[in-house]
Amino acid sequence: MITKEETGKYLNENKQRFLDELFDLLRIPSVSADPKFKGDVKKAAEFMKAKFKEAGADNVEVCETAGHPIVYADKLIDPELPTVLVYGHYDVQPADPYELWDSEPFNPVIKDGKIVARGSADDKGQMYIHVKAFEMMMKNGGVPCNVKFMIEGEEEVGSENLEIFIAENKEKLKSDVIVISDTSMIANEHPSMAVSLKGISYLEIEVTGPNRDLHSGVYGGAVANPINVLARMITSLQDENRKVTVPGFYDKVLELTQAERDEMNKAPFNLDDFKKDLNIDDVEGEASYNTLERMGIRPTLDVNGIWGGYIGEGAKTVLPSKAHAKISMRLVPNQNHHEITKLFKEHLESIAPKSVKVKVTPHHGGMPYVTPTDTDSYKAAEKAFEKVWGKKPIPTREGGSIPIVSLFKDILGLDSILMGFGLNSDAIHSPNESFGVENYLKGIETVALFHQYFAELGKS
Ligand code: BES
Ligand code: MN
Ligand code: MN
Repeated sequence: MITKEETGKYLNENKQRFLDELFDLLRIPSVSADPKFKGDVKKAAEFMKAKFKEAGADNVEVCETAGHPIVYADKLIDPELPTVLVYGHYDVQPADPYELWDSEPFNPVIKDGKIVARGSADDKGQMYIHVKAFEMMMKNGGVPCNVKFMIEGEEEVGSENLEIFIAENKEKLKSDVIVISDTSMIANEHPSMAVSLKGISYLEIEVTGPNRDLHSGVYGGAVANPINVLARMITSLQDENRKVTVPGFYDKVLELTQAERDEMNKAPFNLDDFKKDLNIDDVEGEASYNTLERMGIRPTLDVNGIWGGYIGEGAKTVLPSKAHAKISMRLVPNQNHHEITKLFKEHLESIAPKSVKVKVTPHHGGMPYVTPTDTDSYKAAEKAFEKVWGKKPIPTREGGSIPIVSLFKDILGLDSILMGFGLNSDAIHSPNESFGVENYLKGIETVALFHQYFAELGKS
């Protein structure tokens, strides 16, 4: 049995090596979205394989898929004991725009107590916590329960091949609970655990007007400009109360009771600090809900990118033939991303004027997820957080999505415990992404104790 004293000691003796190893992983630019980095993604998978072996795992495999590989490893000590399946991802978002980084995205440095590099928080640093917690347990009497690892390389591009993998490997992945560190906490002084993730529907719009770019003086005002039309359509997707106007959009939304809203609003949140951090003078969002609620429990619609026409140096008078936008809708229980995508497509086609053609192409999607909190696994995680961070973690609702989590439930019948150690100020997906050294090291202790407590509760 591993104790807090032992984890503290082992951590102290090994922390420099734990950091060095993470830095080696962060130096591999495993960007899943860009084919240019395919070889590096593979390299990151091989790196993980080597580290699992060194840490003492069995059955370590790099499993090829139609896309990027999945790394599997396990330590099965006793079929009578509970089994934890750890999920994480070793792929990262593209580092662009490079010029906005203060240091090289794939050359990690420590600045103000934080590891700065692409993937430091999302998710290499958080995922590697589990590898080092595993090593620590192995070196201190062995793991207290069975442990399996499944680390993928396509989370940032929709996890399509992982879905196939889990459907084909139900027996291999059989376990009692899934544990994931890929979310954030409120603050180091206010540890918290996410208990929900949003779903997502992502699509692209193409608006086509005339068959070629036109002179904006000769034709302007007489022929529909696809950018003007796209802007009008997008504007109409939200009303003056910032409600999404797609018919049926809210039909299945699970409204929280006032008591549930009061409970979630007990979480420490300071609107002035929030605005200051983002350098904005005001917030905006759906009427009748506050900022925490808008982020955690309400569905949203946002344009992620919009382009068309002339965007080069100087001016070019042109009425473009095409305009484009990428749209994401974040979904809450019990919205279904297939239904929402269909409603959006039908609505957009119905509001398109006859003067243009509109094409809506769905990208990836995912269902929302809620973690049950009345389970041994949740209680074990709570206890581990309390032991290491000094306070019981506050349950929070996340605005981000990890689409595979709802499929773990549907396909494997397993719930996921979201033991996130990042902070919103880590700037994931942004330039200068970072992860606190303290978060990394305390995360390792928390995860090791979680296994211990879960094994104890699971046995009783
Ligand atoms: N780790 C994030 C999700 C996340 C971030 C959850 C912060 C909660 C808090 C994950 O890597 C991610 O970026 N997910 C994508 C999903 C998309 C690629 C389908 C997202 O949320 O945009
Ligand atoms: Mn992630
Ligand atoms: Mn991400």
